[in-house]
Amino acid sequence: MSETTPRQPSRYFYEPAAGHGLPHSPFKAIIAPRPIGWISTRDAAGVLNLAPYSFFNAVSDSPPIIGFSSSGLKDSVVNAEATGEFCWNLVSADLAAAMNLSAVETTPEIDEFAVAGLTPADSQVVSAPHVAQARTVFECRTTEVLQLKDASGELTDRRVVFGEVVGVHIDQALLKDGIYDTVAAQPMLRGGGPTTYFTIGEAQRSHMRRPLPEDLGVPPRA
Ligand SMILES: Cc1cc2nc3c(=O)[nH]c(=O)nc-3n(C[C@H](O)[C@H](O)[C@H](O)COP(=O)(O)O)c2cc1C
Repeated sequence: MSETTPRQPSRYFYEPAAGHGLPHSPFKAIIAPRPIGWISTRDAAGVLNLAPYSFFNAVSDSPPIIGFSSSGLKDSVVNAEATGEFCWNLVSADLAAAMNLSAVETTPEIDEFAVAGLTPADSQVVSAPHVAQARTVFECRTTEVLQLKDASGELTDRRVVFGEVVGVHIDQALLKDGIYDTVAAQPMLRGGGPTTYFTIGEAQRSHMRRPLPEDLGVPPRA
């Protein structure tokens, strides 16, 4: 077994329920950068909707399931629950400004595709539209809408929408010898501050092989 010297930093500690005591909450800067779930839906009356969610991630690869979290009952949640469908669209760097426009807090009858100057495209297996300009798209069927509880068991106004990915579109140019090129896709990633984003480049790529139990002399999981 390898040993590392425990760090003994001077630690700032706070209990979030009592406040962070800092000029800005560090929470979102700590869990960062976050991928962006750019969620497109159609409401029950047919109005299109598009909005970014950075409390977002893949939560399972088989079946492939993604989830996004909403503070309050926002249109994307209402639509994904009512229709049982949504699409995830990749926010590549060239679409950052459009993504930002689509975040405008407006009324449900406003189509954010139009606000952001984007083209809605028909999906293959779900009726929710996707962003024609997006280089990678997941078509999803809603699997669960979970209203989050706090540690005392009280329901909060936060909801997480989970969906199984049932269709995947990839710009062929992003497939190099059949391998998806994450750097070429230039995903925009969310930082902690209200205006902070990150992108990625080859300089940030590294590799680390996972150890096998025999490398460490420990028994394999049954
Ligand atoms: C980059 C970015 C990330 C965001 N992430 C979230 C999020 O995780 N949860 C949330 O509730 N709102 C988030 N928002 C705000 C929503 O996009 C905004 O409230 C939007 O109007 C919701 O649209 P809707 O009601 O059409 O779903 C984010 C905004 C931006 C610009």
